[in-house]
Amino acid sequence: MSETFFVTTALPYANGPFHIGHIMEYIQADIWVRFQRMQGKRVHFVGADDAHGAPVMLKAQAEHTTPEALVARIAADRPRYLEGFHIGFDHWHCTHSSENTRLSHDIYRHLRTAGLIDSRSVEQFYDPVQGMFLADRYIKGECPKCHAKDQYGDACEVCGSVYAPTELIAPYSALSGAKPVLRSSDHFFFRLSDPRCAAFLRQWLEQPGHVQPQVANKAREWLEGRDGRALSDWDISRDAPYFGIPIPDAPGKFFYVWLDAPIGYLASLQSYIDSGKARANGEMRTFEQLLAAPDTRQVHFIGKDIIYFHTLFWPAMLHFAGPPYRVPDNVHVHGFITVSGEKMSKSRGTGISPLRYLELGLNPEWLRYYLAAKLNATVEDLDFNAQDFVARVNSDLIGKYVNIASRAAPFVTRHFDGSIDYPAGTGELLDVAREVLEQVRESYAAREFARAMRQIMTFADRLNQDFDARRPWILAKDPTQRAALQDSCARALYGFKVLTCLLAPVLPALAERVARELLGLQRPLAWADALEPPRRIHPYRHLMTRIDPKQLDALFEPAGEIPVPTKTAPQTPSVEPAGSSGAPRTALTATQGAPAPPTLSIEEFKRIDLRVARIAAAEHVAGADKLLKLTLDLGGETRTVFAGIKSAYDPAALAGRLTVLVANLAPRKMKFGLSEGMVLAASGETGGPYLLAPDSGAIPGMRIG
Ligand code: MSP
Ligand code: ZN
Repeated sequence: MSETFFVTTALPYANGPFHIGHIMEYIQADIWVRFQRMQGKRVHFVGADDAHGAPVMLKAQAEHTTPEALVARIAADRPRYLEGFHIGFDHWHCTHSSENTRLSHDIYRHLRTAGLIDSRSVEQFYDPVQGMFLADRYIKGECPKCHAKDQYGDACEVCGSVYAPTELIAPYSALSGAKPVLRSSDHFFFRLSDPRCAAFLRQWLEQPGHVQPQVANKAREWLEGRDGRALSDWDISRDAPYFGIPIPDAPGKFFYVWLDAPIGYLASLQSYIDSGKARANGEMRTFEQLLAAPDTRQVHFIGKDIIYFHTLFWPAMLHFAGPPYRVPDNVHVHGFITVSGEKMSKSRGTGISPLRYLELGLNPEWLRYYLAAKLNATVEDLDFNAQDFVARVNSDLIGKYVNIASRAAPFVTRHFDGSIDYPAGTGELLDVAREVLEQVRESYAAREFARAMRQIMTFADRLNQDFDARRPWILAKDPTQRAALQDSCARALYGFKVLTCLLAPVLPALAERVARELLGLQRPLAWADALEPPRRIHPYRHLMTRIDPKQLDALFEPAGEIPVPTKTAPQTPSVEPAGSSGAPRTALTATQGAPAPPTLSIEEFKRIDLRVARIAAAEHVAGADKLLKLTLDLGGETRTVFAGIKSAYDPAALAGRLTVLVANLAPRKMKFGLSEGMVLAASGETGGPYLLAPDSGAIPGMRIG
């Protein structure tokens, strides 16, 4: 056997469920893996949960559970998504595992022997209440440049400047609120500044095929530094308490999560092999033998946000650890998926929930096809647009692909008892098939899936046109035209078999049904099957339904998410205190006649970030009878808010006015777009809504309270 591929996707943090970005990455890799298998390649496709680090530890603490239990709970949920979208990992493991501990220790010891590990004292903020050192994201304070309050320790979200946490004015711990103190501690460093590292990485990045050209350029920029400075050393240790892998010979010290996370790729492969599952799939070699074999290809699929780790740290770690470790053969980087043009994110709760997609009964292969039709080998972002999704799937999969079988097969069943003859021979058909197969093969191999889908659909168009031109429905009425009828259907159905092979990496379940039910094959289709014109078919059974656009409404419009003001039940904008789901909702509108809400403490009130905002623009929203779209200026920052005030305001009269915005309300995905906050208005039995406005003198961005 020739090459064996060892393929991974980035290991998702085990502090939350999969979002659509994860699913997109897995679908991309899964399509490529299935394609390679259809070419007869052996592939080991593994994943794992990235269990370690402060977020998991703190989340477990907040839930009064252990990190292990939290990770186990998240892991237990993974198969629903993976099976649901036909993502066929051979094995799923965890970085919190004996394999990963052993491998991390081994790699670390080799790096130490190579003289690439250093230790030195580091001064860092420490939370005296929590009893732990604070990562930058857990320190907040006033921005040293623009004096915005409550900014994170590494960058200001208001003015965008970047600084060290020690530069914050009045810093406090985001965990306990305590004033952090500076403390020093010994840390371990991977000496990336060593000239050997830069020399190796330069050469690794130069070799074509390791990474896309855009990615190599980015990595080279980091490597050369702005003024030709080399990479700086990488801090790879964290002090207890930390959920991670203990560093050998260093009590109380743990590997930083990003040291052991990519090693988790290897740990999962090893666990796969040691479990015996790989053997059952024909892999007889040990983990070490497989890694060290010259024809093994180590391939990582990742997103553009983690290029640094995968093109600098990871290859350097592997190279200097030495055999049996191998440096990655390819790091394939993809862009981000956006939803209707909005950046989605876990923390903001926007985007499409993959689980909801499945629960609504939407066909997973629709999404696989849609993504395939948009994915290419660049790192450009890709947008999920609902209308485009419906149009693409319905016109391509139903209108072009399934259509051929559903039209041609019934003639064969009715007039020829299911048997297919090629009165004009198969020579020309095979030539055409060979040509299409080769084009599409090249596109898949290069991860140019969108191009592959275009080539496939062009071929489907030709088949449909050919079928129409031969007019089989007329031929079927004339007994003297049997051969012509046979010929037209045979061409179409052979074409359909070719299409099914070409689409099988994207539509594995559908291809499997076509193979079994229509073609009577008891095994998955291989690429070479496309050169075997079928001689018999079973009666056609319905293959795939079109998407009804209504099905998608529910995907974007979770019940009760669009605020609808009415006279009797005034819009009660509500604030959910961050991080306390299920907490009582606190009404903020001044509602006449309504019962007064329960009291809240001043601390609770202070969590609500009220700001003066200028309505820069107000417009009607097509299809919305209660909402206006407001563009708000917060003194430098711009927000879009959909407000239920259309009944009372003419948009033209709103532009330029000042009002009050709840600025830290979790953004909500609405049918019409993302609403990033809420403006305050009064309403009651005698009318409304009445927008609130500050007295003159107030300026956009001012804090209220
Ligand atoms: N745990 C690290 C990876 C460690 S790999 C040794 C991590 N986890 S993650 O859960 O945040 O992201 C996992 C993968 O999902 C990454 O490749 C990331 O780029 C990808 N995506 C996260 N959001 C995404 C989109 N919106 N779109 C596409 N992929 C995105 O990073
Ligand atoms: Zn600032």
